[in-house]
Amino acid sequence: MAASLLKSSLFLHAAPRPRSVRLSATSSRVDSPQVSVVLGTQWGDEGKGKLVDNLAQQFDIVARAQGGANAGHTIYDETGRKFALHLVPSGILNPKATCVIGNGVVLHLPGLFEEIRRLKERGVQVDGRLLVSDRAHLLFDLHKEIDGLREAELAGDGKQIGTTKRGIGPAYSSKATRNGMRVCDLFDRATFKTKLANLAADGAKRFGENFVYDVEADIAAYEKLAEEIRPFVVDTVEYLHEALQSGKRILIEGANATMLDLDFGTYPYVTSSNPSIGGIATGLGLPPSSYDDIVGVAKAYTTRVGAGPYPTEIHGKLAEDLRAVGHEYGTTTGRPRRIGWMDIVALRYACKINGVTHINLTKLDVLDGLDAIEVGVGYKTKEGKLLKSVPADLNTLENVEVVYETLPGWKADISGARQWEQLPPAAQAYVQRIEDLIGIPVKWIGVGPGRDALVVKP
Ligand code: GTP
Repeated sequence: MAASLLKSSLFLHAAPRPRSVRLSATSSRVDSPQVSVVLGTQWGDEGKGKLVDNLAQQFDIVARAQGGANAGHTIYDETGRKFALHLVPSGILNPKATCVIGNGVVLHLPGLFEEIRRLKERGVQVDGRLLVSDRAHLLFDLHKEIDGLREAELAGDGKQIGTTKRGIGPAYSSKATRNGMRVCDLFDRATFKTKLANLAADGAKRFGENFVYDVEADIAAYEKLAEEIRPFVVDTVEYLHEALQSGKRILIEGANATMLDLDFGTYPYVTSSNPSIGGIATGLGLPPSSYDDIVGVAKAYTTRVGAGPYPTEIHGKLAEDLRAVGHEYGTTTGRPRRIGWMDIVALRYACKINGVTHINLTKLDVLDGLDAIEVGVGYKTKEGKLLKSVPADLNTLENVEVVYETLPGWKADISGARQWEQLPPAAQAYVQRIEDLIGIPVKWIGVGPGRDALVVKP
C-alpha cells in the first residue's frame, strides 16, 4: 500500500487533546463519574450495549435519549444468555438499575410491550424498573408504512437510504412538522382519536391507495395500550434532576452513532435523530454541564449498514471472513453489514464533535486471524489534497483515496485476555497506535461478546 508510507505524523498535530474530566465541588468524579455518556463514534453497532450492560452495575439509572427500535443492542448475561434489546435500555439486565426512556426517543408501544413480554418471560424484572417520558413521541404503524413507501419510491430513483423500515424517519418527521403525538396525548382519548385520524389522512393524501393503514383498529388498540403504559409514564426531566440532586449515578446510553447523525453524518444516508452529544442533551433534559465523562465506542475495524459513502470499505473474501468472524449481521433486520478498516479521520471527527473523554475499542478479537491490519489515517482528494476532516460533500467523500498505515497482526486468540499484559505485543501496539492517532485514551478493549470480555488499559 503505497499511500501507507505517508505516515501519520502528518496528522498527529491535529489530534484533539482529551477534554479534562470535570471535578465536582464535592467529590472527585474521575474514577466514579456521576453522569456518564456512552456514544457510538462510527456507523452504529459498535457494541455500546455490552459496555452499558457492564457499566450498569455501577449506576443507579440507565437512560436512552434518542432513536427508536432501529437500535439493536445485543448483550449476553453472566450465564451466557443472549438478549436483543431495541427500545429498553441495556441496563435492564442489572436488577439494581432503573431504566429511563427519554423524551428524545420515538416509541412504538406494541414493540415496547413485545420486548417487555420477552424480558419477563426470561425472568427479568421490568415493572417498577422502567420509566417512560411523557414527552416521548409515539411511533405508529402508519409511520412504518410510510417508511416502506418512501424507501420504495427512492429505490425507483436508485437513491434508497437503506432504513430499517421501523418508521423512525417518518416519526421524527411528524415531530418536526408538529402533528406528531406524544405519550401524554394517550390519556386524552378524544384528542388522541382526532390527531391519529388526521395523521392517517395525511398519509393517505400523500401516498393514495398504496397507503394501507387501519386507523380505527389502531385507535382501539391504543385505548388498551394507553392503560398498559400508564404505570410506566413519568416526567423524566423532573425524575432525572431529582436523581442528580440526590447523588444518584446516571448512565446515558447512546443509540446509532455520529457518522449516522442527522447533522454530522453522511447526509442523507443517516438516521433521523442526533445520536451525537447534542441529541443526548435534548433527548433527556439533563444539561451538558452534568456530564462527567463521555465514552466513545469504536470497533477495532468498522461496519456500516445501508447505503452511503464508506471510504475504508473492504470488499471480497476478506470482508466476508471478517463478517463471519464478527457476526456482522444487523440485530434489528438481520442484514449483512458492510465491513471496513478502522477510519481514523472519521473517528477523530466523532471524538471532536462529542467531546469524547475515553474510548472503548470493541471487537479487537475479530482481527485475531489477520497477518496485517490496515488503518485509514487520511483522506486524499482526486486532486491530491489531504483533507483535515470528513468532508460534507458526499461526492468528495465517495472519491477520496484513503491513506493507510499497515500494522502487523498478532495471529493469536485474545478472547481469554482480561489484562493488558495478556494481550500480544502486536495487539497492544495496534491499540496504542489508535490511541496516539486520535489523542484520546483507550480505557476498555473488547475481546469477546461476553459481559466480562473486557480488558482495561492501564
Ligand atoms: P446500535 O445501538 O444499534 O448501534 O448497537 P450496539 O452498538 O449496541 O451494537 P450491537 O449490540 O448491535 O452489536 C455489537 C455486537 O458485537 C453484539 O453482538 C455484541 O455481543 C458483540 N460484541 C460487543 N463487543 C464485542 C467484542 O469485544 N468482541 C466480540 N467478538 N463481540 C462483541
